[in-house]
Amino acid sequence: MRRATSTSTDAVHAGEPRARPHHTLTSPVALTATYTFEDSADLARYMRGEDADPGREEYGRYGNPTTREVERRVAALEATDDALLFSSGMAAVTTTLLALVKSGDHVVLFSDCYRRTRQFVTSTLARLGVRSTLVPPGDLDALAAALTPETRVVVTESPTNPYLTCVDLAELSRRVRAAGRARVVVDATFATPVNLRPALAGADLVVHSATKFLAGHNDVLAGAVAGPSHLVSLVRELRGVLGGVCDPHAAFLVGRGLKTLSLRVERQNATALAVARALAAHPRVLCVFYPLLPAHPSYDVAQASMRGGGGVVSFVVRGGRDAACAVVDGARLARIAPSLGGVETLIEHVASMSYFELDDAGLAAVGVDPGLVRLSVGVEETTDVVDDLLAALG
Ligand SMILES: Cc1ncc(COP(=O)(O)O)c(C=O)c1O
Repeated sequence: MRRATSTSTDAVHAGEPRARPHHTLTSPVALTATYTFEDSADLARYMRGEDADPGREEYGRYGNPTTREVERRVAALEATDDALLFSSGMAAVTTTLLALVKSGDHVVLFSDCYRRTRQFVTSTLARLGVRSTLVPPGDLDALAAALTPETRVVVTESPTNPYLTCVDLAELSRRVRAAGRARVVVDATFATPVNLRPALAGADLVVHSATKFLAGHNDVLAGAVAGPSHLVSLVRELRGVLGGVCDPHAAFLVGRGLKTLSLRVERQNATALAVARALAAHPRVLCVFYPLLPAHPSYDVAQASMRGGGGVVSFVVRGGRDAACAVVDGARLARIAPSLGGVETLIEHVASMSYFELDDAGLAAVGVDPGLVRLSVGVEETTDVVDDLLAALG
C-alpha cells in the first residue's frame, strides 16, 4: 500500500494492493457469490486461520476483495483502523446500533437526526426493550443530563439535516466519556472526511450514507461505518448475520466516486457558501442555514472544527409553503429529488418531500418551517448554480 499523504491522496490510493491480477491499474470487480477451496486440507487450513493469504474470503456475505479495498480506503479517510461497507446508509446505521445495544440499554440521540434513524431508535429498538431520549439539536447540557448508567450509545449527526447544526464533537465525547461507558456514534454523511474527521475528535464510530458525498454520483446506494478494529469487528459479525452487505459492483462505484471526493467536496463547499451568501442578501429569503454564515447558530463550532461548510444549504422563503414550492418549481438547473451530495444540484421543498404527511401544525411539532427549501449543490459552475436560484426567486 502507498503511504498516505493527504485526504486527496488517500481518496485515490489508500487500500490499494501492491499488485493486481493482470497488472490492471484499477480495481477489478470480483462478481462472485462464493469462493473455492482446492481440497479438504486447503479448507481446513483456512478454517484454522492458517491460510497464507490473510485476505482470502469464504462466502460473499462475509467479504469480497473489491468491497474490502474500498473499506480500507474509507478507514484511511476517516483515520480509523477499519471500516465496512453496507447496502445502504440505513443498513450501516441499523446494523451498527444493533451491534452496540441489548434489551434494558438506553440510547440518547439529537432530535434532528435523520428521521429513519430516529424511527429505528424510537420504534424498532424500543420494541426490543431499548429506551431512548431525544435531546434538542446540539444541546450538550441536555445531552449530559440525559445520560444514565444504562446509556450505551449517543447518536449524533454533524452537520444535521436540514438545519445544518454542527456539534462540538470533542466536547460531546469528553462529556459522554466522563459520564460512563456509552459509545459515541456520529453520522458524518453531511460532513464527509474532507470537512471533518469525527474519530479525531473522539467519536467511537463514524457512519455514512455513502449514497451521498462518498459515492457522489447519485447512481448507487451504499453505507459505511468506520472505527477501531474491536468495534468494527462487532459490527462485521452482525452484518454477516443480518446480510446488509454492499454488492461488489456498488462497492466499485463507491470506490470510483471516492477518487474525486476531495475535488467534488471542495467545489461543493465553495458553491454552497456562494449560494448561502447570495440567498442571505435576497429580499424574498427569510433566513438561510449554512454553518459558515456568521448568523448560523453553529458558526463558532463550524469555524473551529470544520474545513468547509459542506454542500447543503437550507433556506426559508418568505410567504410559506406556496412561495417555497414556486421557488423549487422555478429552478431549472437544480432538479427536484430527495437526496444530496452528488454531482448534480438537487432541490427539495422539505415539507412536500420528507414530511408530506404533515400539516403546518405537524411540521411545527417536528421543527420544520413550511417555507423551508433544501438545496444540495453539485459540481456545476458556481455562478450557474447561484444564477439558477436567483432566477427562481425572481
Ligand atoms: C444523514 C443521513 N444518514 C443516513 C441516511 C440513510 O442513507 P441511505 O439513503 O443511503 O440508506 C440518510 C439518507 O438520506 C441521511 O441523510
